[in-house]
Amino acid sequence: MTTKTAKLTLPDGKEVTLPVVVGTENEHAVDIRALRGESGYITLDSGYMNTGATTSAITYLDGEQGILRYRGYSIEDLAEKSDFVEVSYLLINGKLPTVEERQKFSTQLTRHSLIHEDMHHFFAGYPPTSHPMAVLSAMVTSMSAYYPDSLDRNSAIDLHITRLLSKVRTIAAFAYKKSIGQPLIYPKNSLKYCANFLHMMFAVPSEDYTVPPILEKALNQLLILHADHEQNCSTSTVRMVGSSGANVYAAIASGILALWGPLHGGANQAVIEMLESIKKEGGDAKRFVDDVKNKRGGNRLMGFGHRVYKNYDPRAKILKKMCDDVLQQLGINDPMLDIAKGLEEIALKDDYFISKKLYPNVDFYSGILYRAMGIPTDMFTVMFALGRMPGWIAHWKEMVEDKDTKIGRPRQIYTGPTPRAYAPITERTA
Ligand code: CMC
Repeated sequence: MTTKTAKLTLPDGKEVTLPVVVGTENEHAVDIRALRGESGYITLDSGYMNTGATTSAITYLDGEQGILRYRGYSIEDLAEKSDFVEVSYLLINGKLPTVEERQKFSTQLTRHSLIHEDMHHFFAGYPPTSHPMAVLSAMVTSMSAYYPDSLDRNSAIDLHITRLLSKVRTIAAFAYKKSIGQPLIYPKNSLKYCANFLHMMFAVPSEDYTVPPILEKALNQLLILHADHEQNCSTSTVRMVGSSGANVYAAIASGILALWGPLHGGANQAVIEMLESIKKEGGDAKRFVDDVKNKRGGNRLMGFGHRVYKNYDPRAKILKKMCDDVLQQLGINDPMLDIAKGLEEIALKDDYFISKKLYPNVDFYSGILYRAMGIPTDMFTVMFALGRMPGWIAHWKEMVEDKDTKIGRPRQIYTGPTPRAYAPITERTA
């Protein structure tokens, strides 16, 4: 915070002095909260391109320089040295856990992995063709019915947080098993968070299944890279819904739904669909890029571009290397990886992409990794949701614990008709 101010001169010559807020990384904002009260003016910023909705101590990102840090720790360090449970603890609690704290957190996650047996009936009710994001969001909303104390804002927040983090992976795996007609595999307490998820996804009752360590490591890294990204569309949705006082399950479920869109978390599925269609049409990456540039066929280069990053997304950099390592270790030669690399090479040398500062984002390579791990395409966005869960929870918690939080309620500039008289139906013209 600072004593600096900014002056705004309005068309009638009136000058308004507004406070300037400065963050710990020297980001500056003009605090316009008093503007309307003092002048009658509001600010207009569709898509919130230039609006800070909150101050936050969770994640720092510098889109120009391609920097991403959770609670001050670089994403590169965390992806290499940490695991998803520890990063979840860090995001939610603001610090890395001690040995005892880590032990307690892990035990709680293990103890809460089962879902209520009655919830199994829900899975049976969905058609096998259901998108797993529809099932996941509905199931997370339903958790508020099974834990009605969540409707009371003073209920045990930590318990709901543990339930969400732990059960969401069981729900995701069950949704997959149901979609392929296999029996549900219950969680196994002897396994760690990511291994347990892979076990529920890929084990069958008739055979032994050992989680391949390479997949467990890759999943930990993938989830860490997705764990938070400050005020993105889904996180802002979680904050917005939570600001009304809705329970944590409702707020998180709404985040899951916001993530589903192809411009957000749904892009990882859209990337693979794009690569498949390029392959089907002969694998001509150059022609596809030309079509995108000339806006033919209405296609964008999915997995490219970002509202905040105007440089290489640091997550994409890590993922590209992981793709090479994991595919090599699994002995997989995926033609999609070659097409993706070809697209990237062409795009990064092309004026259209250079001038608009469009670089690969987190979704460009993640789908290729998920494919290599045996995860089907329509589960990709569910994987993103699993990873983003601690970020959503951390933001929800920060929001409810902030005494300055107010219900999210933007204003608008009305552009509709001015007052007019009501006409009886017989007197109206088409
Ligand atoms: N391919 C081709 N052109 C693009 C692309 C792209 N992927 N992204 C942006 N552009 C163009 C766009 O057509 C526009 O050009 P013009 O000025 O000629 O109309 C210009 O770049 C600015 O685009 P915008 O849509 O105004 O930018 P935005 O900041 O509102 O959108 C975005 C950001 C991520 C929605 C967009 O870049 C996009 O649609 N990318 C593809 C989808 C995608 O990969 N989404 C995942 C984002 S990362 C995961 C996450 O956190 O959600």
